[in-house]
Amino acid sequence: MITFSNTYFDNASTSWPKPVEVGKAMDEFLRKLGGTYGRAAYGRVYQTSMIVEQCRNAIGEMLGVSESGNIVFTANATVGLNAIISGLDLHRCEVLVSPLEHNAVMRPLQRLSEKADVTWKLLPAGTDGRIIPEKVPEVISSKTRLIIVNHQSNVNGVLQPVDELRQYTGQIPLVVDVTQSLGNEPVQGDKWGAGFIAFTGHKGLLGPTGTGGFFVRNPEKLSPFFFGGTGSRSESFEMPQFSPDKYEAGTHNTVGLSGLLAALNHRPKQEWTREKFKELIQRLRRIKDVRILGADDFQHQGGLFSIAHSAYPPSTIARRVYDKFGIEIRSGLHCAPQAHKYLDTFPTGSARFAFSPWHTNDDLEKLGDVLEEVLK
Ligand SMILES: Cc1ncc(COP(=O)(O)O)c(C=O)c1O
Repeated sequence: MITFSNTYFDNASTSWPKPVEVGKAMDEFLRKLGGTYGRAAYGRVYQTSMIVEQCRNAIGEMLGVSESGNIVFTANATVGLNAIISGLDLHRCEVLVSPLEHNAVMRPLQRLSEKADVTWKLLPAGTDGRIIPEKVPEVISSKTRLIIVNHQSNVNGVLQPVDELRQYTGQIPLVVDVTQSLGNEPVQGDKWGAGFIAFTGHKGLLGPTGTGGFFVRNPEKLSPFFFGGTGSRSESFEMPQFSPDKYEAGTHNTVGLSGLLAALNHRPKQEWTREKFKELIQRLRRIKDVRILGADDFQHQGGLFSIAHSAYPPSTIARRVYDKFGIEIRSGLHCAPQAHKYLDTFPTGSARFAFSPWHTNDDLEKLGDVLEEVLK
């Protein structure tokens, strides 16, 4: 009998469990505090506004940006990416993207290609989809207006060389999607010179669903995507020109942000080690007919990977590990058909395993036992 301390390996979809303080903070907020953000001058609203601002500052630290006033809260990373891609007013131009982008990027770009004659092109990359920075100037043209990079792939966990990339992109604005990496990998928005960063609260940050957002370095260059009340400059039908109000129309998810702040303040220490993870990958690579989707060089591997088998479809692998061992994973395309096309696993996709800080080295060892058993 193989028993795990934690059978949930679907943390790239949404993380679970959350620190207990997350639920407590949300419960406390609902029962005792309540109140909107920035809409009135009594104590309850003041305290709620403080929670939102503390959360904004804490996210600023995580993103490595000094201007936390330019961090905007939205419902998730998808809304953040839409706000960036649509707010730039792109038309008749070209956007360069990494080969491992999620549909949260590809679908807004597809819409722009139909409506505004915006084309997209892949950045040069190796077999695992990791960008080769020094080759990037070869694909930049006079029509290139934007570069979008998924910092950590949600399919093979590859980490992109964002810092090096910046040295080859000149003044072209860079959008970095840190949805999968934030919380688990260092993010250095200022050092990277990222013009925009999209993030989510419910994955690596261990916060509740319904939280996320984006960072914008120069708010004067990004139009609002949503329009409505902000509690500021209410005499005008125009949105305020200053951030974050320019982009935060409507009532905030104050319950969710209370939970997210608690998650940031009570982050657990990661139990599993990279050495053990490397050992697991090496072990799995030895199983016959199995292909591991991961970084070609383990240095560039984030805490998730996928498996493709030449005989068993990903859904069969997911069903087997669940039925026999209770292991919860996601199979299929993971909303990233572009990544699978590049990695040659389209349209079947892969079976994906994503760790949380609570997984132990023993869990990783047992995952190896389970996969050897179900894939033989
Ligand atoms: C790389 C990447 N970007 C964006 C998203 C969208 O995140 P959200 O569900 O928070 O909108 C995901 C979700 O899986 C993702 O993996």
